[in-house]
Amino acid sequence: MLADTRILLIVSGSVSAYKALELTRLLRKAGARVIPVLTAGGARFVTPHALQAIAGEVVHQELWSLADEAETGHIRLARLPDLVVVAPASADLLARMAHGLADDLATTLLLATDRPVLVAPAMNWAMWAHPATCANLAALRERGVGVVGPNVGAMAEAESGPGRLAEPAEILAAIEAALDAARHRRERPPAAGLPMAGRPLAGRHLLVTSGPTHEPIDPVRYIANRSSGRQGHAIAGALAALGARVTLVSGPVILPDPPGATVLRVNTAAEMLAACEAALPADAAVCAAAVADWRSAGAAEQKLKKVPGEAPPPLALALNPDILATLSAHACRPRLVVGFAAETENVVSNAVAKRQRKGCDWIVANDVSGDVMGGAENAVHLVTAGGVEDWPRLPKEEVAGRLAARIAETLAGGAEA
Ligand code: C5P
Repeated sequence: MLADTRILLIVSGSVSAYKALELTRLLRKAGARVIPVLTAGGARFVTPHALQAIAGEVVHQELWSLADEAETGHIRLARLPDLVVVAPASADLLARMAHGLADDLATTLLLATDRPVLVAPAMNWAMWAHPATCANLAALRERGVGVVGPNVGAMAEAESGPGRLAEPAEILAAIEAALDAARHRRERPPAAGLPMAGRPLAGRHLLVTSGPTHEPIDPVRYIANRSSGRQGHAIAGALAALGARVTLVSGPVILPDPPGATVLRVNTAAEMLAACEAALPADAAVCAAAVADWRSAGAAEQKLKKVPGEAPPPLALALNPDILATLSAHACRPRLVVGFAAETENVVSNAVAKRQRKGCDWIVANDVSGDVMGGAENAVHLVTAGGVEDWPRLPKEEVAGRLAARIAETLAGGAEA
């Protein structure tokens, strides 16, 4: 699969740097040549000897190496690979990349290279959520840098959250996808003069939630609702059709994945929130999921038994996190946050109040007293800071198309959120 490809692998300072050794092993097994570069921080976590032994190549560490620089070695190295991979990419390295610094070998190579670049961030969750890191990531993404991970989970410092380095197998898959995309671009460059008007969201990252959530009561029973995910999936598809990079975080649905969207499948509200936070930064978020408001306060590990003659067990509920409100108040808040309001009465006045309460920019309000949930059509009202628009009853795909067009217009700066 990766035969005859050359990967320049930059390893920067993170406890997870040990995973770079496994990544190197997987890359070589797949047939790639790995040219390792170790930053000063990276060398605090893995030794150059270990990296060199597994890569089977000299490890490059010094910008000012007399031997290498006799032939302007950093430029030669920058031109050598098919892909530059930074794994792990520390918050510091991402910041230096975003600002175009070239104060060591790794950052000089990243500035000098004309090859595609993929980064796998790894850091503490608070560093990941910091507005500075969000802005740096957004700038890098805008310039076409690919990003894999981070994942959500336990951290070395006994804390938990988004910031864990993606697993080596996930990084390998992202490398294969990035090389494929580069090959595709070379073989089929975009036709000269292709109108940008057809892809007004090119370069933007859009986050969409869709579907219900399933909150376990025990291993076989769960709390859920009737959401089909049709509207959310249609929105993800419509945004991707306008050129956006779309991350769709979906609860359990029986729909096909919308073309062009990266789909992250979750079950519970807590998993949905973690996946959304790990997907930030994003230019806009559309929360169309029907998230369960409550979960079982203590899901049983074994199936609850029905005992003849005994009363049913009580079901204590706990409040779920509000994903829309959390994203609206997030340090890394998308510029435009859109929520939905499914109401059975006082649709518009409830939606206006919900917009305030949740801190989002727009609410798409619909009356779900009829056959909307699971149905093919939707009659919505768009509630923004500017007022309320009543849209006619339309197929859900058409509601999605109109909403995607409004989002594109707003992100382009042509309209107020
Ligand atoms: O509070 P309510 O469920 O009516 O709000 C609906 C909006 O809030 C939708 O956009 C839905 O996706 C979002 N929501 C959420 N997390 C929750 C509950 C609702 O994101 N726990």
